[in-house]
Amino acid sequence: MTIDAKTELYGIIGNPVAHSLSPLMHNAAFAALGLNKAYLAFPVTDIAAALNGLKALGIRGASVTIPHKQAVISYLDTIDPVAEKIGAVNTLVVRDSALHGLNTDWIGANRALGKIVRLKGSHILLLGAGGSARAIGFGLLEAGAKVTVANRTSEKAAALAADLGCPWVPLEAASKIEGDALVNATSVGMAPHTDQIPFPAKALINFPVVMDIVYSPLETKLLAAARVARCTVIDGLEMLLYQGAAQFEIWTGMTAPLAVMRQTLFSLLPKP
Ligand code: ATR
Repeated sequence: MTIDAKTELYGIIGNPVAHSLSPLMHNAAFAALGLNKAYLAFPVTDIAAALNGLKALGIRGASVTIPHKQAVISYLDTIDPVAEKIGAVNTLVVRDSALHGLNTDWIGANRALGKIVRLKGSHILLLGAGGSARAIGFGLLEAGAKVTVANRTSEKAAALAADLGCPWVPLEAASKIEGDALVNATSVGMAPHTDQIPFPAKALINFPVVMDIVYSPLETKLLAAARVARCTVIDGLEMLLYQGAAQFEIWTGMTAPLAVMRQTLFSLLPKP
């Protein structure tokens, strides 16, 4: 791809961003469709200055990651209603010097899970009560699913469940629940702690589908145990892919080249 005077610029703002997979994924997608667009990683500490910079330079859009997903909200001109409920924004669109914020994490989770499970009316056990669980929880409710939250720290489970308006259980009691899918939105099993599992292996038979948001490694201990229990498994690459695909579609108005994006991500992720 040639970068010239008409190239439209996108990027990710966060700190740190040096290890982000988004630049390679989005640039591969732009190239696949022959778009004169480029995507860079911007390590940002001063979010207000960075957002003024985006507008002043005519940067078309950006991904937002840790630690700016919440702080960015107070600088927006408009916000998507679901992103507002979640209280976190991971996608910016810059139009006529105005900033619009959205959240595609929940869209990514819904698309990944929705390929296998009909979300409306389904019962989903959601493990975790951090930022990822919050985005996924609101997204599942948006799709009409019935969510139960389980988390190691009960106070956090209760607080998230109150915000979602759904039931919660202590993590120890979660193995008694049955549902259409189990979603791990904790960091348990992520490298280097690959021997950890967030849910008892023997209780996985209660769920026909198990999804993990951890993508390093791709085959977590949870997913390996779920395969043994004959569950359909959805690995962490899928949510990562679909949240990026949703960003691509928001920025370009075109259908994302999923195969290219998936292959790019897959080539970057550590294999066993
Ligand atoms: P994120 O923004 O990615 O969701 P987070 O806000 O730090 O990250 O949340 C991490 C989640 O993983 C929390 O639900 C956390 O449980 P606690 O609320 O009890 O801390 C969960 N988690 C992390 N390590 C865990 C472990 N060893 N066992 C069980 N849950 C764990």
